[in-house]
Amino acid sequence: MTLTTASITASPTALSSVPSLADEVRADFPILHQEVNGKPLVYLDNAATSQKPQSVIDAMVHYYEADNANVHRGVHTLSGRATEAYEGARDKVASFINAASRDEIVFTRNASEAINLVAYAWGLSNLEKGDEILLSVMEHHSNLVPWQMIAQRTGAVLKHVPLTDAQDFDFSAYQQLLGNKTKLVAINHVSNTLGCINPVVEVVEAAHQYGAKVLIDACQSVPHMRVDVQAMGCDWLVASGHKMCGPTGAGFLYGKLDVLNAMPPFLGGGEMIQDVGLSQSTYAELPHKFEAGTPAICEAITLGAAVDYLNKIGIDRISEYEHQLTAYLYEQITQVPKVKLYGPKPQSDGTGRAAIATFTVEGVHAQDLSTFLDQSGIAIRSGHHCTQPLHHLLGVNSTARASLYFYNTPAEIDTFIAALKETIDFFGNIFK
Ligand code: ALA
Repeated sequence: MTLTTASITASPTALSSVPSLADEVRADFPILHQEVNGKPLVYLDNAATSQKPQSVIDAMVHYYEADNANVHRGVHTLSGRATEAYEGARDKVASFINAASRDEIVFTRNASEAINLVAYAWGLSNLEKGDEILLSVMEHHSNLVPWQMIAQRTGAVLKHVPLTDAQDFDFSAYQQLLGNKTKLVAINHVSNTLGCINPVVEVVEAAHQYGAKVLIDACQSVPHMRVDVQAMGCDWLVASGHKMCGPTGAGFLYGKLDVLNAMPPFLGGGEMIQDVGLSQSTYAELPHKFEAGTPAICEAITLGAAVDYLNKIGIDRISEYEHQLTAYLYEQITQVPKVKLYGPKPQSDGTGRAAIATFTVEGVHAQDLSTFLDQSGIAIRSGHHCTQPLHHLLGVNSTARASLYFYNTPAEIDTFIAALKETIDFFGNIFK
């Protein structure tokens, strides 16, 4: 079935005619200007991965056309250029999240690898039987499974902060779960499924009163809002480049200097050493101690170009615009019959949650919904979004999720809502 968008009627509060940030930036994203299944692409799967502006694509091509060489190894000109660009990207990331030192940024393949780095390097040498690791029930699998593996090896105990009735982080339950046995708190800043924004400053403060370390999974916040690791006070923070206009294969770990210094290396190999003997070795200073082997040089440099691009737009402007989109999306989707939304509601100005709508539709499987919307060129995600335990708790196997970024327009929300209504009507008529 091909859905039409002819039935779209402009809402009285439609933002479609208001010039938006998206109008300014859409030309920068070549991929957005295509038809999918005969309809203009409406890309609403940004929590899974973001699209890339031309400047990021150009940076990747430029690196391979002009500068490709290994880093920190040669004295020749190309190696010098590659090293300068690679280390320059580290400076850009450090400044983007206001790290106190560039040595606090370790490039990883993705956020999962960054969490595994902390789990293995810190967890295995600091956790003992009976120590408690405090996670939340809304964590992504990447912030659950590594800790399960470490708990199995050390005898540490996993505990999980529940949700409030509004499907938010339950801070008072968190305070009750904290105790002298808590050695680590690892939670997300913004849930990729519920879209709630967790009170990370208070979480860190409370954990530190018990001497526990805190890791923040900031994959869904760093691309969308100002994140200041010094203000947050966390011990570690992880994020993934591909969700912030950068390439896949480039994520990063932030860690406080003293915390990273006290950790043993994670992976061994070239680059992370100072002196190597046949039986033992000494290790490089930060951050190289944690970057074994030839790194993903091009990807890190390109992540630096993504940070440049986000800085050019302005992260506060991005947040502000996303609040407008959130308000409009919620105003529209809450009027669609048979839709059940998950996570806290936004304030009327769109603040208070991320620009993500996760939902189920009575009588329509999320997978079918997503397949039908794709026929109209609309990309949303369906499934468990790597939060299976949360879905079990919510009593559903899968949900549909529309997640926005600053290049989305109110008109795209209109198209999505119209197609959603048509799909629901279509299924309603079949099963009448
Ligand atoms: N973590 C990504 C998502 O939420 C893949 O879709």
